[in-house]
Amino acid sequence: MQVPTMARIPPIFATQLIVLSLLSSFALILVQGEDNHDFVRAMDRDLLGLKKEKLSHFRLYWHDIVSGKNPSSIGVVKSPGNSSTFFGAVSMIDNPLTEKPELSSKLLGRAQGFYALASQHEFALLMAMNFHFVQGKYNGSTITVLGRNQVFNEVREMPVIGGSGLFRFARGYVEARTHTFTPSTGDAIVEYNCYVLHY
Ligand SMILES: *[C@@H]1O[C@H](CO)[C@@H](O)[C@H](O)[C@H]1NC(C)=O
Ligand SMILES: *[C@@H]1O[C@H](CO)[C@@H](O)[C@H](O)[C@H]1NC(C)=O
Repeated sequence: MQVPTMARIPPIFATQLIVLSLLSSFALILVQGEDNHDFVRAMDRDLLGLKKEKLSHFRLYWHDIVSGKNPSSIGVVKSPGNSSTFFGAVSMIDNPLTEKPELSSKLLGRAQGFYALASQHEFALLMAMNFHFVQGKYNGSTITVLGRNQVFNEVREMPVIGGSGLFRFARGYVEARTHTFTPSTGDAIVEYNCYVLHY
């Protein structure tokens, strides 16, 4: 039987070895501590005007228009195999976000990004999109949604992983529910309820 190396060293030397290795790792930390990190500093959050974190809920309707002369959602990569789940297909989107389910209702912003068929076993999308808002004080601010969207489920939850402008430091989640799907055209209207923590 092969005896492990440590077992053959007398206990007293083993202790010395451990102490020595601890000391050398402290020395390493000391040396690293002397590095100048001038490019990074601790900062008071008041300097960025970050006061109290708030939770906002907003509801909007996401229009995936794939048909007609002016689609907002365009297939850019076809599924390379003959996968029944269209694995590998990618669509770029610039989808209108409106206040009501009707496309003619107030435009709140646009969902820009892409979705990709990311499952070989189910009909599930990887969604990567920025909601770019255009109304009032939110004009120009964005939140970023990155998540898994199993589109045939009634409710799909996806994380909000960040934001810009009024949504700096944003985090949260969205719940997506299909409002209308038109099989003959492939167009879809999806209700998004967004729950976002931000300052
Ligand atoms: C298409 O699917 C069939 C059966 O599922 C499989 O035998 C075949 O190899 C596939 N072809 C390609 C190009 O993936
Ligand atoms: C939003 O901002 C853009 C660019 O700054 C500006 O052109 C536009 O008029 C603004 N829209 C609203 C509704 O304030």
